[in-house]
Amino acid sequence: MREFLLHSRTGYTGANFKSLMMGGRLDIVYQCVLMALFKSAAHRQDVVFHAILNGPPNPPMHLEISGAELRDVRIDERSWEKVLKNVLSGKSHPGIAVDKTPFQKLIKEKSAAGYKILVLSNEGNEINGEKLDGDMLFVLGDHVGLPKNDESFALRYGTKVSLGREKYLAASCIDIVNYHLDQI
Ligand SMILES: C[S@@+](CC[C@H](N)C(=O)[O-])C[C@H]1O[C@@H](n2cnc3c(N)ncnc32)[C@H](O)[C@@H]1O
Repeated sequence: MREFLLHSRTGYTGANFKSLMMGGRLDIVYQCVLMALFKSAAHRQDVVFHAILNGPPNPPMHLEISGAELRDVRIDERSWEKVLKNVLSGKSHPGIAVDKTPFQKLIKEKSAAGYKILVLSNEGNEINGEKLDGDMLFVLGDHVGLPKNDESFALRYGTKVSLGREKYLAASCIDIVNYHLDQI
């Protein structure tokens, strides 16, 4: 399975926001969902996207979106604003689960389940040199980057992988990884 985990420092953990951007940069979560799960006219069945939201009022919150189960979604920002407001206020949506798992616990659980943990950083080893197969969890930070302590924790279970020396948007990184894995 191909999985992505976005650490969002400020993403709201409640539905009281005017726009995704004003919801502690939930627009970044939306952009990452789009790049992780959607192709042209279809969505990826073999991808799971996770975000750990650490903003107010009830952090942390773990959002898990499974491509195989996902239904009733479009790709525009407005419809995802509605979907995120619904799930963050406790309503259900097919393919989306919300729980209280914190970042470090999720890393530990995925590693114990046999997932290769790959921490995305422009300072890591070139992705081309990595053996990419089996279950993989790609971990990335938001617009500020991964907090140092969480990055160090994740690196106890995995390795730092780079897509080049330039710093890209989190969503671009997911798109690049998907493209890269699609070629294998
Ligand atoms: C917008 S960047 C964060 C920028 C932040 N100012 C920093 O210095 O980390 C968002 C995330 O994308 C990932 N990223 C950005 N550029 C990358 C690259 N060249 N290779 C691998 N991951 C990258 C990292 O996980 C980063 O935390």
